[in-house]
Amino acid sequence: MSKRLFRRNFIKKSIALLSGIFVAGTGTKNLQAQNQRSKKSSKYDEPANDTIRTIKSLRTTHGNFTDQDIPDSKLQIILDSTVRAANSSNMQTYSIVVVKDRDKMKKLGGYKASVMIVYCVDYNRLKSSAKSLGHSYYPDTMTDFVTGSINTGLAVQTAAIAARSLGLDYLITNGIHRGNMGRLWEILDLPKEHCFPLIALYLGYPTQEPANKKGRLKNTGIIYHEKYHTLTKAELDEITSLYDDKNHHIALNQDWVPKGHKHYLDWLFTAWARRPKPADSETQIFKILKRSGFIELQKS
Ligand SMILES: Cc1cc2nc3c(=O)[nH]c(=O)nc-3n(C[C@H](O)[C@H](O)[C@H](O)COP(=O)(O)O)c2cc1C
Repeated sequence: MSKRLFRRNFIKKSIALLSGIFVAGTGTKNLQAQNQRSKKSSKYDEPANDTIRTIKSLRTTHGNFTDQDIPDSKLQIILDSTVRAANSSNMQTYSIVVVKDRDKMKKLGGYKASVMIVYCVDYNRLKSSAKSLGHSYYPDTMTDFVTGSINTGLAVQTAAIAARSLGLDYLITNGIHRGNMGRLWEILDLPKEHCFPLIALYLGYPTQEPANKKGRLKNTGIIYHEKYHTLTKAELDEITSLYDDKNHHIALNQDWVPKGHKHYLDWLFTAWARRPKPADSETQIFKILKRSGFIELQKS
């Protein structure tokens, strides 16, 4: 190689190297700036659009609904929205019973509102379709029940978001599991097999706005990046103090200190978690799941 050619190649390579370093340097700076921006935006920015605003406005009305009815047009939009939720194999393994009789809803779930919607994990529509076409279909495993519960849970939350976007308030409750659950089958005429009322949604207008919106834990112990880890003592202390910070409104009440507890979580794990519960409530659910065919294999 001639001296001149060697010098030209050397200059070319040096320029390429320097510009690479320059670009990489700028990239790092960009990344840092991006991180700064995303930290700032999650902390300070207003929600970006109506959907996010609606999601951020979600809050429960704990049963204090007025007597005002909701228009059927809004109810229809909510029903159309609830079935839009993602569901496994698009099999929609649920049924949804809309109840407008207020006495009936009180008996079913313990609350009254304009409308109550009972969401059931339910495979009977599919079983009937299979039978009418000459197939046997038996969704008799816990997997079927778990998958059905996921589908049903997503549907109810989607309905709550739709309701809130229409200016309505809601209560999602498992009040239907309190007391003798046999009443649900009696009042709603539910099928005995492969149908389990999972959750209920009450819709309406509240008698009063809640004093504050409940906060949430958002980072430590909730969100992990790339890999899970066991929480350290410092992280657990941080969580304890987040519950104790009354500005966050994560706690269900504010009076754990007068009740003799140092931290909110002391109250939660003693008074609340150990409150008397009907002895047979879990047994009841277990028995119903067995009768429904979701627990014991009944393949035909
Ligand atoms: C499975 C489930 C059951 C619930 N049951 C009741 C209930 O019986 N009564 C009630 O007032 N709220 C009930 N809630 C609402 C929660 O108390 C409420 O979502 C939680 O305290 C957070 O408050 P927020 O929804 O206002 O943010 C239930 C929520 C879920 C998901």
